[in-house]
Amino acid sequence: FGRKILYYDEVESTNTLAHAMVLEGAEEGTLVIAEHQTTGRGRMGRKWHSPKGKGLWMSLVLKPQITLQFAPQLTLLVAVALCRSIRKLTSLQVGIKWPNDLLIEGKKISGILLESSADEEKLQHVIAGIGISVNLDLDDFPEELRSVATSLSIEAAQQIDRTQLLCQFLLELETLYELYHEQGFAPVKLLWEALNVSLGCTVRSQGPQGVIEATAEGIDDAGALVVRLADGSLTKWYSSNVEFGS
Ligand code: BTN
Repeated sequence: FGRKILYYDEVESTNTLAHAMVLEGAEEGTLVIAEHQTTGRGRMGRKWHSPKGKGLWMSLVLKPQITLQFAPQLTLLVAVALCRSIRKLTSLQVGIKWPNDLLIEGKKISGILLESSADEEKLQHVIAGIGISVNLDLDDFPEELRSVATSLSIEAAQQIDRTQLLCQFLLELETLYELYHEQGFAPVKLLWEALNVSLGCTVRSQGPQGVIEATAEGIDDAGALVVRLADGSLTKWYSSNVEFGS
């Protein structure tokens, strides 16, 4: 991965650009990276704060040999690769909150936005958008994010080399991606479970009759969250609309 890197000073969103690149024939492993995004996107229509030169704002083109229903597995795979690369380069205790947030002591340092294009059930390509708040100071975050977000440099009390982190991440991701194609999701799931901080937590989801509360118990073989409802039964929740409580 990353043998072809398209590097920009400023873009609207690296995910948007990566989709356009695929239409022009970009191969699997192509990486679009920018110093600054003017309209970085987060999940559920949220904005992603991407100040200049302070983070890794990037999108990777993937063309996995899987059907659409298994695309959520890739989010977990990318999260594992990210978590492992940060842990290798720093001594920070980074954990994964299902499906795609990386947290340090409850505060978010990274998010993943997977956008796929499919023809019927067949996946054509996936854009894995990754944002890592690497060297942001507290005042680089908008006021409303300061209690819920942090950066690697704040937590490590030193600047982190973005290039080194990028290289380590690409190596981890490529290794895991190969393992996934050779042995399926099972080994990735095990690694995810060991790094997760979400199981056992209270989760809420908006149902047709109001908010439903449950306890996160595990993940299934497609990457969905398995939750236990108040009546003791188990059900599966998919990524949208799930909020973690305390
Ligand atoms: C989230 O946690 O809501 C996902 C955030 C994903 C942000 C990254 S930054 C690079 C890529 N380009 C975007 O517009 N979004 C993703």
